[in-house]
Amino acid sequence: MSNPEFHPACLVFPPLPAAEFDALVADIAAHGLIHPIVMLDGLVLDGRNRLLACRQAGVQPRFTQWRGTGSPLAWAISANLQRRHLTASQRAVLALDILPHLAAEAKARQRLSRGRGRRKAAGVSATVPTRGKASQIAARAAGTNSAYVEAAKRLRLAGDDLLAAVRLGQLTLGEASRLARYPASVRTRAIDLRQAAPHRRLSVVLRDCLAEIPPAAVRPGARRGRVRIWCGDSLGLMRSLLDDASIDAVCTSPPYNVGVRYGTYHDSRPRDEFLGWLGEVFRELRRVLKPTGSLFLVAGHVPKHPWASYELAQAAAKHFQLQNQIAWVKSLAVDGRTRGHYRPVAGSRYLNRVWEQVFHFTSDGRVPLDRAAVGVPHACGWNHGRHGDGSGLHCGGDCWFIPHETIHRSSDRGDHPASFPVALADRCLRLAGCGKGSLVLDPFCGVNGIIAASRIGARGIGIDVDENYCDRIAAACGTVVEHRPRRPR
Ligand SMILES: C[S@@+](CC[C@H](N)C(=O)[O-])C[C@H]1O[C@@H](n2cnc3c(N)ncnc32)[C@H](O)[C@@H]1O
Repeated sequence: MSNPEFHPACLVFPPLPAAEFDALVADIAAHGLIHPIVMLDGLVLDGRNRLLACRQAGVQPRFTQWRGTGSPLAWAISANLQRRHLTASQRAVLALDILPHLAAEAKARQRLSRGRGRRKAAGVSATVPTRGKASQIAARAAGTNSAYVEAAKRLRLAGDDLLAAVRLGQLTLGEASRLARYPASVRTRAIDLRQAAPHRRLSVVLRDCLAEIPPAAVRPGARRGRVRIWCGDSLGLMRSLLDDASIDAVCTSPPYNVGVRYGTYHDSRPRDEFLGWLGEVFRELRRVLKPTGSLFLVAGHVPKHPWASYELAQAAAKHFQLQNQIAWVKSLAVDGRTRGHYRPVAGSRYLNRVWEQVFHFTSDGRVPLDRAAVGVPHACGWNHGRHGDGSGLHCGGDCWFIPHETIHRSSDRGDHPASFPVALADRCLRLAGCGKGSLVLDPFCGVNGIIAASRIGARGIGIDVDENYCDRIAAACGTVVEHRPRRPR
């Protein structure tokens, strides 16, 4: 068993903190693996950290099969809850994480109880109660209460980054709710600072964090802009409703036609037809974008279509000048430690894809940018005079490490297969100088696309053809979906 995969029940727990993991590696190196790794149907059900520690210590792991009769989920939860010291906030997020698994088990139970002779469902467990509201059941299983689970649900609407930090024990639910009032840039930095100094009070972390970032970008509870969500075909809606030169910035990730499974849209059309349609979309974007505006085109590739992102960029290049190319890095491995998250590629031929391209297009390639708005503090002071602009910040460059929330299984991603982090759009929009009074467009907004516009206080228009995605993003922006939108004034 060289490289077994993990059972979803074992993935609902956050990885061990680095110090505890290092201690486990040292212990296994010194004494060998004492408790074998528990397997179910070829997947690791319990012992993920032990397996990883064995690999790091160069110790051959031992395996045993799970012989339980109840629910594997319940067994994995109770085994881990006894061993791990999770805070009340972490337990609340754990309860949220197990909700979809509980629903799957409930369905399986229903199927079995309807089956021949209404035999007792194998998934029914003695430790996970099965009656009551789903969030109450999940709360009891995770050893917390449903009010906490509801708070975790509300936090999920504010952003995956905060939920991830609570899951990892970097923030409590209360601290995360407080951070939710700040824009993504502040939150990301605050989480980083807290990670570096886990015992510092959040107020101290925030004070340091705010000292680094220009004040205009960080006002808590900045007035939300009016973001509109239009449900429908973006090309048709842009043609009929948007005026020439009315949009300040577009940040978008269109479908790539690589067979991704979206809700309504089928991402698999004849190549020429797809590129022809995309060409029309870019023609429209050129028409509606102001001459000083910016188009940020986020595009990845898949092994089967290695040129996908370049084909997209070439279609845009017929109407725009390419001004910058940015690498959006989702995950980074330095000195043997990995940060961030990506979707692994199966097999041994291809490397995992840990970055995507962000093509920055403008009308003439000469549009000035607000580099200080996304600048980083100088590491040392000697050259400020020559390169500084007085803000104390310098240009952070064209490689952006903006990790996705670490997810432990596909259901964490929600029902959208290809969303980008809000912090990515946030950085693009601030670089383009957007703020209160700007009008931002994402013609393929999915579930995250236009949220950043709302957070920086800009007006925004997000368009998606899928009703469910529109519902989700409208809720996140505090607005309603428009099925027959009117022309913006
Ligand atoms: C790559 S995803 C965008 C994800 C988005 N950036 C996010 O972070 O959630 C592309 C989106 O385009 C939508 N879409 C596809 N064809 C469309 C069309 N003709 N008009 C509007 N939206 C469309 C899909 O439903 C999908 O949500």
